[in-house]
Amino acid sequence: MSSQRDEAQIRAFSERFSVERRLVILSVFIAVVGGGVAYLFLRIDLIPRPASVERQSIDSLLQLLFSIAAVIFVLVMAFFVHALVFSRRRRRSYEEGPPLTGIGGLEIAWTIVPLFIVVAIGVYGGIVLNRMTAPPANAQTEVQVNVLAFRWGWQFTYPEYGFRSFQLSLPVDRPVIFNIESRDVVHSFWVPEFGPKQDAVPGKPTTLRLTPTKTGQYQVLCAELCGMGHTIMTAPAVVFSAADFDSWVKQQQAAATPTPTPTSSPSPAPPNTANLAARNLEFNLSAITVSAGAQVTIHFDNQDDVPHNFALYTDGSAQTVIFRGDIINRGTTTYTFTAPAAPGDYFFRCDVHPMTMTGTFTVK
Ligand code: CUA
Repeated sequence: MSSQRDEAQIRAFSERFSVERRLVILSVFIAVVGGGVAYLFLRIDLIPRPASVERQSIDSLLQLLFSIAAVIFVLVMAFFVHALVFSRRRRRSYEEGPPLTGIGGLEIAWTIVPLFIVVAIGVYGGIVLNRMTAPPANAQTEVQVNVLAFRWGWQFTYPEYGFRSFQLSLPVDRPVIFNIESRDVVHSFWVPEFGPKQDAVPGKPTTLRLTPTKTGQYQVLCAELCGMGHTIMTAPAVVFSAADFDSWVKQQQAAATPTPTPTSSPSPAPPNTANLAARNLEFNLSAITVSAGAQVTIHFDNQDDVPHNFALYTDGSAQTVIFRGDIINRGTTTYTFTAPAAPGDYFFRCDVHPMTMTGTFTVK
């Protein structure tokens, strides 16, 4: 009885909502909900606001992809709910439903339409990628920056200007080419506001082209898990106006030129003790002076959350070690060793950060 009542109800319902009416309701539902979801997404800033030409083209591509995906998602969900309501098994009925035979036109449509959408997205994606990687029409205007990634930090060399910096500085609205290398493991160069990431692979240089569009302060991040110091592997990035960039370059060039050190003739005997601290991946001292053959004490204070040490070598090639202190995590230790008997300039460094944490060890 109740199954008959169900059937009567469903029939009445089906008559009230003809197929045409249902399609109209579904279309309106899909348009409103799909459009709403897409609109909300496009308003959310998932990552910081774009500050480069490349980031803008990636964002446009992403927004198009998401809008298409939102409409398709709501379309599938609408038919799913429709099937739940109108095609469900009647209560206490175990009979088979009517056999399904193909609907030729519909099947062709649901094959052709997604194929067309996927191919169109692929072509558009290819155009965006090609635009991002192609050299600018006038290659002369490209700023060259050689990026060296290491555990754990970044170094930027400006070959046209002849200096290195631990800050990435760029002029606004000028295309930049980054030649990226790693000296140890795989890292990934990323400034979120600029958009694309590029891997830094040891032994295989990679390139990345960007055109910053907004002056301001940003941050270079490493986007590839590379060990204990991964999260502190950052560097400041600044986009300057053309004039400010020029004065920054002049300032760096002046600093890169070594100034002659004044020599004071009656020098007192060195104390043979040094308070060496490591902080923000830098040593507080760039030079240590001791007497020939003296017993040297180095009070070492690691103020970073990454390991450091002090190691002494005959010269900058770091081929021959004279003394190698234990690598320590945050904390203090004391290193003692005998200074070389021969006066001269030796080389010290942190073995964990051999590119950036270096200094001159002078024996008198
Ligand atoms: Cu380098 Cu993570």
